[in-house]
Amino acid sequence: MSNERWLNRSRQAVWHPCTQMKVHETLPIVPIARGEGAWLYDFDGRRYLDAISSWWVNLFGHANPRINAALRDQMERLEHVILAGFTHRPVVELSERLARLAPGRLGHAFYASDGASAVEIALKMSFHYWANRGRPEKTGFVSLENGYHGETLGALSVTDVPLFKTTYAPLLRPTHQAPSPDPRRAPPGVPPLQHAMEAARALEVWLSENHATTAALILEPLVQCAGGMAMYDAEYLRQARRLCDRYQVHLIADEIAVGFGRTGTLFACEQAGIAPDFLCLSKGITGGYLPLSAVLTTDEVYAAFYDEALSRGFLHSHSYTGNPLACRAALAVLDIFEEGQVLEANRRLARALTEAAEPIARHGRVRQFRHLGMIWAFEVADPPADFARRFFALALEQGLLLRPLGTTVYFMPPYVIGEPEIDHLVRGTRAVLDRL
Ligand SMILES: Cc1ncc(COP(=O)(O)O)c(C=O)c1O
Repeated sequence: MSNERWLNRSRQAVWHPCTQMKVHETLPIVPIARGEGAWLYDFDGRRYLDAISSWWVNLFGHANPRINAALRDQMERLEHVILAGFTHRPVVELSERLARLAPGRLGHAFYASDGASAVEIALKMSFHYWANRGRPEKTGFVSLENGYHGETLGALSVTDVPLFKTTYAPLLRPTHQAPSPDPRRAPPGVPPLQHAMEAARALEVWLSENHATTAALILEPLVQCAGGMAMYDAEYLRQARRLCDRYQVHLIADEIAVGFGRTGTLFACEQAGIAPDFLCLSKGITGGYLPLSAVLTTDEVYAAFYDEALSRGFLHSHSYTGNPLACRAALAVLDIFEEGQVLEANRRLARALTEAAEPIARHGRVRQFRHLGMIWAFEVADPPADFARRFFALALEQGLLLRPLGTTVYFMPPYVIGEPEIDHLVRGTRAVLDRL
């Protein structure tokens, strides 16, 4: 069956995410028949380079033979079992390995399926920790301006992207947003580090007045991704850790987008030399195969729930919590990291891509070209009306999956791209910029 048939059937029956469905009267949906490595193939034989790792989840390519084999093996053994009162090998091994790899001492892993569910868990756990410790007045949360933590009501309450939040405002809990260390927001002439320090001072002022009723600070370490790939100075994280310690407020690190090597280290917090009280993980955790998220936390938090009283326990669950197939995919991902020396290989890959992207950085329409680890981003000057959709459509014509955030264009490719893919990405992006 051709593209045409699938896209029409999809338009009738599927309500696509994060989409005003009417746009598909003019913008075709792209039906994908199969994936291989960094490429996606449609039903008419065209291929697209997945330069955004399918919403930042794919690490080692589509149809990765290693992950496929692990899943086939797991499928023959155990596809799923309730995790309340039961356990299984993949979830035990994954929890042990994540605890060893994560910064600090985060030895207890709680599981869910999507990123937003992990954020809900971290928020609820933080609040409940303080209640169990005799501080029930600590019910508030502080997050950063321009931050993004997901679309469920709790996660959206700590998100600060008006496009997603404003409509649902009457349903949300009031939370405070502290100034973002995003250097794009710095007044002219103020360098990124100074801007980050000023943002930290504003956080300090707010915490000094509100810490008694605040449970946690939640932030995206190093890069505010959905907020336009805002890459900020690691010093802000050190200051945030110091302030959370000083004012007895939990630090929740949302590494859902930046974890698993995206910023150049396995976890972004490592670059600031800090450990959070809660670490939220998802997306790349299964290499883009299956929905899985995890919240890692400390012995101290775990101990506050360990009690005779049922109600002092964390009575939160999702049916697929700790799904064995998803955990097995995650174990295969960790094997690839360990055996393939992925972080080192990515450093070489990043140097090659940055060098190849030089003509983009120098393009007349491009501003603030920036890069961290396996993320590249730039702003486009004088964007036409409807920029993001237009760029997306033009990129598809070039065989590229790129999905700008506002006027920010970014690359977040799978870690398996090689020279031909880099060349395709750079050439296609230049062609789009020339035609805007
Ligand atoms: C930092 C961050 N937190 C949370 C989420 C929500 O994850 P999910 O879309 O899996 O619910 C995202 C998704 O993009 C994210 O980037």
